[in-house]
Amino acid sequence: MDNTRMISVISLLLLLFFSSLKAASVEYNVIKLGAKSNGKTDSTKAFLKAWTSACNPVHSATIHVPHGRYLLNNVVFNGQDCKNSNITFRIEGTLVAPSNYNANGKSQDWIKFKNVDGVKIYGGTLDGRGTGLWTCKKSASKGCPHGATSLKIGNSKNVVIQGLSSVNSQMFHIVIHESEDVNLQGVNVTASGNSPNTDGIHVEASKGVTITDANIGTGDDCISIGPGTKNLWMERINCGPGHGISIGSLGKVFNEEGVQNVTVKTVTFTGTQNGLRIKTWARPSNGFVRHVLFENATMINAENPVIIDQNYCPGLQHCPSQVSGVKISDVTYRSIQGSSATEFAVKFDCSTKKPCSRIILDKVHLTYENKPARSSCASVDGSAYNEVQPSSCL
Ligand SMILES: *[C@@H]1O[C@H](CO)[C@@H](O)[C@H](O)[C@H]1NC(C)=O
Ligand SMILES: *[C@@H]1O[C@H](CO)[C@@H](O)[C@H](O)[C@H]1NC(C)=O
Ligand SMILES: *[C@@H]1O[C@H](CO)[C@@H](O)[C@H](O)[C@H]1NC(C)=O
Ligand SMILES: *[C@@H]1O[C@H](CO)[C@@H](O)[C@H](O)[C@H]1NC(C)=O
Repeated sequence: MDNTRMISVISLLLLLFFSSLKAASVEYNVIKLGAKSNGKTDSTKAFLKAWTSACNPVHSATIHVPHGRYLLNNVVFNGQDCKNSNITFRIEGTLVAPSNYNANGKSQDWIKFKNVDGVKIYGGTLDGRGTGLWTCKKSASKGCPHGATSLKIGNSKNVVIQGLSSVNSQMFHIVIHESEDVNLQGVNVTASGNSPNTDGIHVEASKGVTITDANIGTGDDCISIGPGTKNLWMERINCGPGHGISIGSLGKVFNEEGVQNVTVKTVTFTGTQNGLRIKTWARPSNGFVRHVLFENATMINAENPVIIDQNYCPGLQHCPSQVSGVKISDVTYRSIQGSSATEFAVKFDCSTKKPCSRIILDKVHLTYENKPARSSCASVDGSAYNEVQPSSCL
């Protein structure tokens, strides 16, 4: 073999070697990095070591969490200096919060992803161990910490969360904040129906979030939607117990980003406090809600199946005799059926200052004790199409 041929053979081999390296996916097993699956030994450092390692190479990486229980303290997976935009968490085990709620209950979040791009979380259970804190809060004793969100995705994009379960969070279970293109598929949330502020999934200041095939039973909203949410899609959701799917509360402060282009499709509410709700504070605000579609919802004994409440003022504090400044428009309710646990199955209580406009009811069939339910309207303008029962007050 002459020199030129040798050189080209060597370069070909090198090329093959490097392209195979590039295609390879590296796996980091948290146990090999020092995590213990006994639920008692703090494994936070091992998880962070896995994250830092996964962030370094240019090829994709998988962080593997085998079966077992892993105790984690507050932890932030920061993507700021991460060079990898394809990191997968494959979780077979359960991540557990410290048994003493004071250990992580004073910080906002328990497990947080911040500034990440291209993270996928497959499987896993998060056990927030919130019951002690709920008891503390319900006993009205002073000195209970606020409580931590179990999983927060903040300032991130291209995130997939698939087949994850969250149980007994101290506060909200999952929060999506200032993020883009976040996809939650087959996520389950479980907490007691009387646990305080344990919203299932909260989305705020984010766009392009989709939530599909979720089963949520909790003590507050199954899904809540905060200011600045845009292009949100929710489909095939089971909710109950809980307070329903809620856009709001909005308009607590004056300067607020609006909520727009929200779709809720094929949902079932079982024994919930509300079904499809839009809720705003009775306070001045420049916020808005527009272009919302609620389609194909089934109510099984929901207390307020369809409700717009613009007079929210808990304890009549900070808002007596004020009206909401949030403008609600272009909201469609199509194919909504089932049973209401109260006589008024459809309630539109809008702002006298900014009445709701272009509210559409299309094929609604809601009963109360096997009889037609009733509807009530205040400061609302819109139309009804096809068969609508209770007969529309629009
Ligand atoms: C990301 O990594 C996974 C394996 O970990 C691989 O199957 C997938 O093709 C990668 N995606 C991209 C866009 O590189
Ligand atoms: C979520 O709940 C559904 C219905 O109970 C179940 O079929 C599914 O396996 C659960 N998914 C996870 C990730 O636990
Ligand atoms: C509304 O949001 C959906 C995703 O939920 C998106 O596909 C659609 O393009 C958005 N529409 C507008 C007008 O932005
Ligand atoms: C409407 O919802 C029901 C159950 O909630 C589901 O079986 C059905 O496929 C949905 N229809 C459409 C058109 O999505």
